[in-house]
Amino acid sequence: MRQTTKLTDVTIFTGYSYIGSCTEFVWIPGDRIGTKQMPSRFIFRNLICEYDVEALMIRKDLYLRTAEGKEYVVSDFQITDINDAENVSGIAHNFDLLFEKFPEMKTITVGEKVVVSKKTQVTAFKTVSNIIHSVRSGQGIDAKQTQEVAAQLAEEVVRSPDAILNLMDIKSFDDYTFTHNINVATISLLIGSALDLPREELNELGTGALLHDVGKLKIPLSILNKDGKLTDQEFTEMKSHPTYGYEILSKSRGISERARMVALQHHEKFQGGGYPKRLKGTEISLFARICAIADVYDALTTDRPYRVAMSPYDAMKILNSGIDNHFDPKVLIAFVRKFSLYPAGSMVALNDGSFALVLKNNPSSVIRPVIKIIMDSSGRRLKDRVEINLLEYKDLFIKGPATPADLNITAGSI
Ligand SMILES: [Fe+2]
Repeated sequence: MRQTTKLTDVTIFTGYSYIGSCTEFVWIPGDRIGTKQMPSRFIFRNLICEYDVEALMIRKDLYLRTAEGKEYVVSDFQITDINDAENVSGIAHNFDLLFEKFPEMKTITVGEKVVVSKKTQVTAFKTVSNIIHSVRSGQGIDAKQTQEVAAQLAEEVVRSPDAILNLMDIKSFDDYTFTHNINVATISLLIGSALDLPREELNELGTGALLHDVGKLKIPLSILNKDGKLTDQEFTEMKSHPTYGYEILSKSRGISERARMVALQHHEKFQGGGYPKRLKGTEISLFARICAIADVYDALTTDRPYRVAMSPYDAMKILNSGIDNHFDPKVLIAFVRKFSLYPAGSMVALNDGSFALVLKNNPSSVIRPVIKIIMDSSGRRLKDRVEINLLEYKDLFIKGPATPADLNITAGSI
């Protein structure tokens, strides 16, 4: 039988949401019986949830922090018994020390090239966790540590200046609230570098983007995690998070005004009508205009309790649509140019039911690359593979990415 692990005095959180605490967390690895692996189990002893256990139940991954500052990840967890409030228990897929091992963490890649290394992602993750801890305990934010991580992210982004990011690969962890800040910072920096911002400005942009939603720490979880529509009063409270964020950052020495403005203005709309101040156009700082795009893009392409994630293609359509076009068009163009939805070598499904391999991107349209049809709409593999420039075939478009499994073939045979 494998060893049971016990942690004492544990704080539980996900992203900018502090969930609660327990006096003891017990991890009991599942036994292998014959060929069958039994699920691993966990118990929270004397669990105190900030609001209710439901806030905990909708999460996929949990982050635990012990009194000594050690951090663990419980991934793919499911609560199975809440009848005994003293001993809430459930099953989970993995339990690991955050810094040593996190098997599910993917690397953000540009084709084969790594944009943000695993090491930097984990350091960013750790910094966000420290920020939460500091704000929750009424201390200011460690500006130096945040700036160092932002500079590290900027360094890695700048190192790949011609990188066209595969947006399908950007998610580093599953949990939205925890990783949202890191994703938004990475996307903001990629946009900033596409706009040729100098290095010092990128550092400030990264710091602001990492901290853009820090004001959410002041919003009750019952509002943050609400499954249905918010009441007018709740919505007003939710809309206070930019102002709360600005206040928190103003109390923290060392965070520049430009970085603070990202927290304050990331929900302002370029055409006006955003919050909190209904600013317009260049009244909104450039960093906040960049962060606004990164924020919405990341939110659209992530699963949330109330809806499933959109494909990068659909999210890009929304960002560019007239209805919701509250972004700075110049920044939006830089964003679109920087990202490839369908990198060369990836497989795509077309609207007529056929499948194709992407050969190269068209710089004028990221959604209309040059492709090679490999299976036609009747499911026939094509011998003489037809090459098509989608810019010349307006009726044909990509529905979304595909995998070899969609075609029932092995990758090596393409
Ligand atoms: Fe926000």
